[in-house]
Amino acid sequence: MLKVVVLVSGGGTNLQAIIDKVQDGTVTNTEIVGVISNNYGVKSLERAEKAGIDNKVVAPKDYPDRASFNKALLAALDSYDPDLIVLAGFLVVIPEIVIQKYEGKIINIHPSLIPSFCGTGYYGLRVHEAALARGVKVSGATVHFVDAGTDTGPIILQKAVNVLPGDTPEILQRRIMEEAEWVILPQAIDMIANNKI
Ligand code: GRF
Repeated sequence: MLKVVVLVSGGGTNLQAIIDKVQDGTVTNTEIVGVISNNYGVKSLERAEKAGIDNKVVAPKDYPDRASFNKALLAALDSYDPDLIVLAGFLVVIPEIVIQKYEGKIINIHPSLIPSFCGTGYYGLRVHEAALARGVKVSGATVHFVDAGTDTGPIILQKAVNVLPGDTPEILQRRIMEEAEWVILPQAIDMIANNKI
């Protein structure tokens, strides 16, 4: 069994897609052993609770400085002894001490076709605003391994999604989630759990 910890910051629809696909058997050999949020009171934590998954908050504001927060995040991760860490809408830069310890064991979902619209400053709606501003006709999502850079690690899966006339950033964001993110993130976990990568 692949022991997975999911890191979240907000709504957690990607977390929900993973939970659902583990429960319905689309994702096999996988157990979600924990969910960690950097924010209190977010819907992700409710989703974890409802699915009976252990969950914790590690919030920067609870620590005197970044180094202490980083250590607390690493300790929270270590407490689950995970085989894989999944960043599912986690809006915190992963500390170097975590990347060093879990090298090759951290994956992220990014809502564009990397290398377009990625890197520093490209998160949330900003990604889709930039895609629409550039006038691309196709966007999509990417699952990749996390390395020390921002969105620079090896790509695991990508899925393209059409941009349609009249799209707003919100509409495009939703279509990319439904058609790409909620599909390829669980799929990547299943591939890792079954040694297909
Ligand atoms: C997703 O668009 C993900 O690609 C991005 O943040 C969003 C998180 O959404 N990195 P949710 O919390 O999974 O609903």
